[in-house]
Amino acid sequence: MNEHIIIFDTTLRDGEQSPGASLNVYEKLEIARQLAKLKVDVIEAGFPVSSPAQFEAVKRIAEESEAIIAALSRAKEIDIKSAYDALRNGKHTRIHTFSSTSDIHILGKFSDRKYGVSLEEKRKTVLKMSYDAIAYAKTFMDDVEFSAEDAGRTDIGYLAEVIETAIEAGATTVNVPDTTGYTFPVEYGLMISELKKRVSNIHKAVISVHCHNDLGLAVANSLAGINNGARQIECTVNGIGERAGNASLEEIVMALKVRKDICGYQTGINSEEIYNTSKMVSGFTGIVVQPNKAIVGENAFAHESGIHQDGVLKDKQTYEIMTPESVGVYKTKLVLGRHSGRHGLTARLNELGYHPSEEEMQKSYEAFLEIADKKKEVFDDDLRVLMGDEIYKKEQLHELVYLHVNAGTDVIPTATVKIKSGEEIFTESSIGDGPVDASFNAIERALGFKPVVESYNVRSVTSGRQALGEAIIRIRSGENSFTGRGTSTDIIEASAKAFLQAINLYLVFTNTKVEFREDKLIINQV
Ligand code: KIV
Ligand code: ZN
Repeated sequence: MNEHIIIFDTTLRDGEQSPGASLNVYEKLEIARQLAKLKVDVIEAGFPVSSPAQFEAVKRIAEESEAIIAALSRAKEIDIKSAYDALRNGKHTRIHTFSSTSDIHILGKFSDRKYGVSLEEKRKTVLKMSYDAIAYAKTFMDDVEFSAEDAGRTDIGYLAEVIETAIEAGATTVNVPDTTGYTFPVEYGLMISELKKRVSNIHKAVISVHCHNDLGLAVANSLAGINNGARQIECTVNGIGERAGNASLEEIVMALKVRKDICGYQTGINSEEIYNTSKMVSGFTGIVVQPNKAIVGENAFAHESGIHQDGVLKDKQTYEIMTPESVGVYKTKLVLGRHSGRHGLTARLNELGYHPSEEEMQKSYEAFLEIADKKKEVFDDDLRVLMGDEIYKKEQLHELVYLHVNAGTDVIPTATVKIKSGEEIFTESSIGDGPVDASFNAIERALGFKPVVESYNVRSVTSGRQALGEAIIRIRSGENSFTGRGTSTDIIEASAKAFLQAINLYLVFTNTKVEFREDKLIINQV
């Protein structure tokens, strides 16, 4: 058979809706370039109407990409026009519009009487809104996708009616999201096969699956959808996304590849780029991949027990159903050092999927030399965090230029920081419960701003005592959370950098004004 399955990647849209995973425009562009290298068919680049930053990211990605670039919009003219405006200079583009279709969503989101009084009336309103939205999107481009939000909990008769209407209005792809990750594979597969039976014009559109992972069934449900006639899968790298996330791209792709014998489908994915893509997404979003995660976790190809090791040494196939190399994991890693030179660094960064500009390259090289001075061998993972740091620096409104910590068993931990803000440098000291707490307190005093620290993690990037330490901190302010990352061979410095970066992201996101008063930076919280 070998039928082609369209891989629709929504890492930059649904994936970015993961708590704390805000990506800036530069990071999104880098991820989009890497997704193109991975050869996904469609990249959903964002939700343009939701913020100027989202708009800008979709616009920039559409302008430079060869893949189909999709932009999300609610079934509203203002959203659809904004999606079109962001996509208008792209080569291959798609407007993706959606309406809620389950009774729970309709009664909740359309509770206002202006949408109708009874459920029946409200359903009619949703049907009309969906038709009108698609027809409006069609005035801008031919490629229009429609999603029936919460299809997983929608009455099948009504769902069939909505999908038929969407295709009548011109939808070329109809998506059946299990928005709340509620369905079982058998149930979800049946839903797709029922739609094939009930919707008279279904042959005019591609059926798409979009499954969330609340019960850990997103991949299984997506595969059940494919086995019952769907031909597009919506998924994210590392399975990131709202709540428990979306179906994981790497698991779907490798399941279809490894079990081609029973599926008979193929994707266009270059699976050897999977590991680089996973690392890049994890680095930029700050969402660490669990070690036992299928395909891309650190232990995915590790054989611990003696029996397994013995078996693998004799014949890899005893305990490996795919090779690490097939997903881009190589045992012999190229190691760079102080003498590798700028050219060697550029070549390796390109191989890892990063394409820094001239100016970024200069900064990256300087940072590389600094790391190479501290630790003799610089590994791929060191370079990945270095790139994360360099790209993040675009939002470095306030930079940590000095940190002195005094800590030990019998002293009160004390930290002094110097923070550079434009041309000014602010110095503050503070004590704390430990050296990290003292550093955070000193930064807070310097900025006059005290966010809530929601989570704080430190890990080593590579192995050995000279390893780079990476700190990831999530702060919350009001409705929003912001994740900062910092790296250094000194984990206190890494933590302070991460904390300051999270604050910088907050300031950029909220466009917060910073004032200078009595030699202090005063952040006016919004
Ligand atoms: O989960 C969902 O229903 C969605 C739609 C907007 C496609 O993400
Ligand atoms: Zn979703």
